Amino acid sequence: MTPQQASQAAAKVCELAPVVPVLVIDDAGTAAALATALVAGGLPALEVTLRTPAALEAISEMAAVEGGVVGAGTLLTTADVEAAKKAGATFGVSPGATDYLLDACEANDLPLLPGAATATEAMRLLERGYTVQKFFPAEASGGAPALKAIGAPLPQIKFCPTGGVSLKNANDYLSLPNTLCVGGSWVAPKNMVQAGDWDGITALAKEAAALKVG
Ligand code: 3PG
Repeated sequence: MTPQQASQAAAKVCELAPVVPVLVIDDAGTAAALATALVAGGLPALEVTLRTPAALEAISEMAAVEGGVVGAGTLLTTADVEAAKKAGATFGVSPGATDYLLDACEANDLPLLPGAATATEAMRLLERGYTVQKFFPAEASGGAPALKAIGAPLPQIKFCPTGGVSLKNANDYLSLPNTLCVGGSWVAPKNMVQAGDWDGITALAKEAAALKVG
């Protein structure tokens, strides 16, 4: 898969809803119910971070949920890419980007949303052909004003800002012309997942899905 094809696929994922939930799953037994609750609330694209031992099994469980589009986050290595793909992930997300990681995603046909936090990082990815990127860590890197400023000289790059994004500030990003969607963990709070409060999570998802893009 070329970087251009990867970016086209990543854009399609980003355009499914204003928010991509970023999920840290401790118990794969909760994965299907969590995905079902989020999809029911209007958030079909789900990022499961490869940060817990349960993550790969959670991806498999979620990939079977109707209407869900499941990706793997925190991709760092070639082994991560191969394992994510095998588990059923249809896209990948990474906090930054290295040549090894880009090579692995391209070789394994896994569309990647690669992370960038500066103009130089975004330009390096653009040189390779990645026009859709994750702006990370969004709030710590200057938030919406920084992303707006990057968009002035680099309007051809579209972003999914992630990291410190919440219902409070999501609009600041979503109103920018270079933002396709935002990523965030606020739609799946740990305590609600542990309590099995799926209706509560669907309500949070509905609130997020109602955010306006553009
Ligand atoms: C992460 O690193 O977990 C993601 O960027 C999500 O960040 P958040 O918890 O601030 O939404």
